[in-house]
Amino acid sequence: MLHIEPSILQYPNWKGHSFLREEVAKFLSDYCRSPKPLKPENVVVMNGCGSLFSALAATLCDPEDAILIPSPFYGAITEDVALYSSVKLHHVPLSSQPTGSDVRPFQLTFEKLENSYKEAKKEGLNIKALILLNPHNPLGEVYSSEEMISFLQFAKMHELHVIVDEIYMLSVFNETDTFRSVLSLDGLPDPQRTHVMWGVSKDFAMSGMRVGMVYSVNRDLVQALDQLGFLHGVPGPTQYQMAQLIRDRDWLNSEFLPENRRRLREAHRFMTEELKKLDIPFLHRSAGFFIWADLSKYLKEKTFSEEMSLWRCFLKHKVLLSCGQAFSCVSPGWFRIIFTDQLHKLQLGVQRIKSALEELKGSSVFETQRTTSDKQDDNCGTARREDTKTTDECKNQTLKTSSVQTKLDTVHIKTEPVSLADENFTVMNGQSNIRPESLDSLIGTLRQQIHSSDWLDKHKPELAAGQDPTQLDVFTDLLDKARK
Ligand SMILES: Cc1ncc(COP(=O)(O)O)c(C=O)c1O
Repeated sequence: MLHIEPSILQYPNWKGHSFLREEVAKFLSDYCRSPKPLKPENVVVMNGCGSLFSALAATLCDPEDAILIPSPFYGAITEDVALYSSVKLHHVPLSSQPTGSDVRPFQLTFEKLENSYKEAKKEGLNIKALILLNPHNPLGEVYSSEEMISFLQFAKMHELHVIVDEIYMLSVFNETDTFRSVLSLDGLPDPQRTHVMWGVSKDFAMSGMRVGMVYSVNRDLVQALDQLGFLHGVPGPTQYQMAQLIRDRDWLNSEFLPENRRRLREAHRFMTEELKKLDIPFLHRSAGFFIWADLSKYLKEKTFSEEMSLWRCFLKHKVLLSCGQAFSCVSPGWFRIIFTDQLHKLQLGVQRIKSALEELKGSSVFETQRTTSDKQDDNCGTARREDTKTTDECKNQTLKTSSVQTKLDTVHIKTEPVSLADENFTVMNGQSNIRPESLDSLIGTLRQQIHSSDWLDKHKPELAAGQDPTQLDVFTDLLDKARK
């Protein structure tokens, strides 16, 4: 794997070296079980699926266009698609309470896609694409091929491109759950508008490698991505290593993948048993690295600011969970619990979750919750779960209440969803990341305060003038300058 040919030290083909794209095509043909061999010329390799989201949004959309995405969803996509051309996401809100013909919580259906599409049109949005995550982050859901076909048919009806993110495709750890890649479908409803992503960050636990790929038969799209490739290339030696890795089928099939699935299954079993003991409801799925759990009974009120307080309480107890608002979930109180770690760390994590919950049980949360829960449903709870605008109101409330008073001024805690989902944030004094105001704006604030303050008038420099008369002039001069 560490072998270096001079040629891989040169500028590459921006879509990826041909030796890697050939291996990727073979790899995806096998693991996605495509009916015909996939072609290397339809493969584009970039530095991660995050980058691919940015590049795809920039090529498929015009600035300010929008993309449909069922929520909750992996929150960093919001920033990824906005990066180059301010593309917005329009959420298709999925409710924790099955409604209509739903058979499970957070179920995505053709009708829900259709309703959100119409709503977006009414708002004047130009919807260009749909993003589907399968297996799903954070739900762990694995959609059946019938479901996927119905979502793809919805997209075809409206001439929408579909980005299907299958980054967890090899992390399905229960044999009874079969994952079907859309590349395995005999005839895609709209092949020119269906683009499938995969990467090594999850299935190979190699997020530091920064390797992601997209498969698309759309020549224009592949060419356009090529133009952006120079910003997102993968270093030649890394491409070489990747090719070596994915070509080693013996090791992958007989060692790595079975062992990886076994470990995922065991860690999942441990965590779900613990959640059952704690009487915490959760979605029992068998894909991905996380469990989507309902902790809403620990909220004083069913609001997103209470959800944030619960998140802080976990942080205080030194356990980091991601709360639902980080994934734009419309029902407050859901948390994503990562279970992919060694047993002793999971045990420690569970112990900390328990101590946080015990603290809450000891407080008046449960009492208050029982007496107020019905009323709270009118606030940001069940009654408004289907209403994204209302959820935004609740989020705004969260943002407002997340300000802290410091010596200088009010400093806002950054509570944007993505920073939590991303886990790219620092923790200061048990709070989420505090973004100090820039020096410029601080100077501006001070200047404004000098303008509006009578402090200097009250504390006349004449006091000092007795000792050194020149001080009076200097002070007066400074005072005049500050007031200009
Ligand atoms: C669903 C999903 N897509 C994409 C990514 C980003 O992947 P990458 O590391 O390849 O940028 C993640 C990372 O958590 C993810 O969960």
